[in-house]
Parts: sequence; C-alpha cells; structure tokens
Amino acid sequence: MASVYVWDKVVRLTHWTVAVLFLSNFFLLEEGSELHEWAGYLILVAIGVRLVWGMMTASHARLSAFKPSVPKAIAHIREVFREKRDDHVGHNPAGAVMIWVMWSLIILTALSGWSMEEKVFGNKDLMEEIHEFLANLTMIAVTLHVGAVVLMTKVTHKPYLQGMLPRRRADK
Ligand code: HEM
Ligand code: HEM
Repeated sequence: MASVYVWDKVVRLTHWTVAVLFLSNFFLLEEGSELHEWAGYLILVAIGVRLVWGMMTASHARLSAFKPSVPKAIAHIREVFREKRDDHVGHNPAGAVMIWVMWSLIILTALSGWSMEEKVFGNKDLMEEIHEFLANLTMIAVTLHVGAVVLMTKVTHKPYLQGMLPRRRADK
C-alpha cells in the first residue's frame, strides 16, 4: 500500500476539534443553546490556531504549500482517475481547494451565528436564514470532503485517513 504523509500534532488536533464540534453543532447540540454557541466559538479558535500555525511552520502544513487553484484541482482529479495514483506529499490540489472552501464556509457560519445572537445587523430573522443556509452549505462541502477521502483511498490505495490519526508508538 502507498505510504502517506503523517500530519503534525497541531494539524491533527485542530482537524478533529473542528470536525467533532462542527458535526455536534449540526446534529447533536440544541440549536442556539449556550453549548452550541461556545462550540461555534471554539471552532473559530481552532481554525485560528491552524491558520497561525500554517504561517509559522515550514512543513507541508504551511498555507502557501497548498494555495487553491481550480484548474490544478481538475487536472489532478483527471490524472488520479487515469493513473490510479496520487503522488502528492501533503495536500493534493483537489484537497487544497476543498480545504479553503471548508474553512471559509465554517468561519462564515460561525460569524453569522454570532451576528444573529448579538444582533449586529439588526434583522435577526434574516441572519437566522443566512446562518441556516451557510450551515447547510458547509455540510454539503464536508460530505464531499469525506466522500472524496473514501473514494480517493479506494482508487489510489493511499491510506489518507492514517495521516490524520494519532501515530502509533512504533511509528514515532
Ligand atoms: C468525519 C470524517 C472525516 C474524515 C475521515 C476526514 C479525513 C481527513 C483527511 C484524511 C484529511 C487529510 C487529507 C489529505 O491527506 O490531504 C483531512 C483534512 C481536512 N479536513 Fe477532514 N475528515 C473528516 C471530517 C471533517 C470535517 C467534519 C471537517 C470540517 C468541519 C473537516 C475538515 C478538514 C480540513 C479543514 C482539512 C485540512 C486540514 C489541515 O490542513 O489543517 N474534516 N480530513
Ligand atoms: C460553525 C459553527 C456553527 C454551526 C455548524 C451551526 C449550525 C447551526 C444549525 C444547523 C442550526 C439550525 C438552523 C435551523 O434549522 O434553523 C443553528 C441554529 C442556531 N445557531 Fe448555530 N451554528 C454554528 C455556530 C453558531 C454560533 C457561534 C452561534 C452564536 C453565537 C450560533 C447561534 C445559533 C442560534 C441562536 C440558532 C437558533 C436559530 C433559531 O432560532 O432557529 N450558532 N446553528
């Protein structure tokens, strides 16, 4: 089986913090409850930490190492289905586009929740609609993301998920 780049602790910790809290806010926690709001703020903190880390580190997690480019993403997807392999170390070009889309949508969802709560733009009903719309749009992107991880693993036999999991003692 092809080997995979194992992400550093900051990437893995912030990924699962954002993933678990996002899914909890969408499916489990009571809409608009204190917990829901705090989970939303914690998601913003986790993404903030990841973005700062992405400016500091020199590894593949550096933000400039995966600039989003739709033409490159399309070319990459074509290549993967033709060659049945993904030779990229770090995020591949398709993943790169999706990651920036997800970060942007999650941040906008949380900010719309906050502005609804704090009545920043006055019209609470409109902000509620926007919050719901953004949350659903983010969910579509997340579903595509998880679907892509599963599909890419099947096509290329590269164990993407392992790169996001805690390292076993023997691997350290
Ligand atoms: C629950 C199942 C999930 C699985 C199996 C999963 C798996 C992965 C994997 C394997 C990567 C690395 C991809 C690569 O090698 O380039 C990744 C990255 C990423 N995923 Fe997920 N993911 C899941 C859920 C989520 C959710 C719910 C979100 C957002 C709410 C999310 C957002 C991201 C982001 C932003 C990255 C980029 C990480 C970084 O560079 O910091 N993921 N995910
Ligand atoms: C990324 C983080 C967040 C996600 C994924 C999320 C998701 C959702 C979803 C799916 C709903 C239900 C929408 C509906 O069907 O009406 C909702 C409702 C709500 N959210 Fe969020 N939310 C997040 C962050 C926040 C934040 C930070 C706040 C406030 C500080 C907030 C405040 C609310 C409120 C007050 C409601 C209830 C609106 C109503 O009365 O129908 N949310 N949220």
